[in-house]
Amino acid sequence: MGPIDAAVAAARYADPDVVRERDRRHVWHTWTPVGADRSAAMFTHASGYRIWDIDGREYIEGSALNSTCGYAHPEVTRAVAEQAGRLHHVDVSLTSHDLAGALAERIASYLPAPLTRTLFVNSGSEGFDAAVLMAVGHAAHQGRPRSRIVAFARGYQGATVLARSLSDLPRCRHPMTAPLPVTLVDLPLPPRDLRRPEALPVLLDAFERAIGADPADPPAAVVVEPFLNVGGGVVLPPGFLAGLRALCDATGTLLVVDEVFTAYGRAGAMFACARDGVVPDVVVSSKGLAGGYVPIAAVTAGEHVYEGFAADPVIGGLRYGHTTSGHAVACAAALATLDVLEKENLVERAEWLGGRMAARVAHLAGTGEVVDVRRLGLVVVLEMTTEDAALAVLARARAHGLLLRRQGAAVMAVPPLVIDDAGADALVDRLLAALPGPA
Ligand SMILES: Cc1ncc(COP(=O)(O)O)c(C=O)c1O
Repeated sequence: MGPIDAAVAAARYADPDVVRERDRRHVWHTWTPVGADRSAAMFTHASGYRIWDIDGREYIEGSALNSTCGYAHPEVTRAVAEQAGRLHHVDVSLTSHDLAGALAERIASYLPAPLTRTLFVNSGSEGFDAAVLMAVGHAAHQGRPRSRIVAFARGYQGATVLARSLSDLPRCRHPMTAPLPVTLVDLPLPPRDLRRPEALPVLLDAFERAIGADPADPPAAVVVEPFLNVGGGVVLPPGFLAGLRALCDATGTLLVVDEVFTAYGRAGAMFACARDGVVPDVVVSSKGLAGGYVPIAAVTAGEHVYEGFAADPVIGGLRYGHTTSGHAVACAAALATLDVLEKENLVERAEWLGGRMAARVAHLAGTGEVVDVRRLGLVVVLEMTTEDAALAVLARARAHGLLLRRQGAAVMAVPPLVIDDAGADALVDRLLAALPGPA
């Protein structure tokens, strides 16, 4: 064992109490209340849909929002290692590498024309900074400057100042000046009613009013998710994106679709918008793209948006990018992930498996502490009566060897797309065991 292996082994396999104490003392965990102990759930290794904690306990993974190929997939890990040893990175603002075009072309192949032009960034949040710059720039290029954005109040586009300004979720509120005017649309119906076809005119009416809220200041873009992830696992009515497309066309507004969570199989399709036959002007995707192996996000724009940036007076293009944008290892991980999705037919399977899992819990809707059961692709959502009830389900599930996600009062099962039938059955068994019994 060389010195590096020894150091890694020492860090990994030291006394669990020492490892936990280090974490408690030195790590500032993302989105975490001060004093909360995240070292209580400390993981050391994983395979497929199973993950082990530092005490050797095994869990079914149902909480990884970005997991497509699962953990330690041999094809993805091999692609990452090979690329790191061949060419890990060059600056794509000045040069390029052989995988950037291959990945951008691949993404374009899943989307309708004219969505053929991809800007790579490292996270969904950065993707929205870029997408909003694109929308505002596009309006200027059309000779009608606009900067207002319309978005869901319960939407979540990310953590940067700009991205969080597109939301009214409590976690997104900030003490800084919003960089541009935003009109937020509240859910006009409770989440449990929103997926029904009757909700469509009500929801579209709310967006129409927001778009027309200030006739002197029409919006540059409407920014929406096809499924509100952080906003509580909210399924929207069929025809929502198509209806928004029509509203945007009527008002010269760009439609920017947030597929950070939904793309690459999670929603049971490569892209939810493409499945719905809708052509946005800009699509942002991220989580499933490289399955969480390496950070990457893609902002894919129509050629009509791209070409207008030739008029930029400073650089003749979009003034945006990061040192690690289009990182070659991330591109390699993404291409390998997409290969696995296609070879293992994981996208179609996600739709089928999600349906099978949801069928086993559907009867719980409206009983006990379960307000609603809903699903999109391979995401099963149980909305509980309160956040505390949802927290209790998560704690009991963990005790039964199952990791779940919580967004507000919604409990979400989000397993890797590679989970097999037996794993999915065990996940639902453990979820059922974690629900409160009759009082
Ligand atoms: C729908 C959606 N958009 C954007 C983001 C932000 O992405 P990131 O966390 O990679 O910045 C998230 C993250 O959860 C998301 O779920």
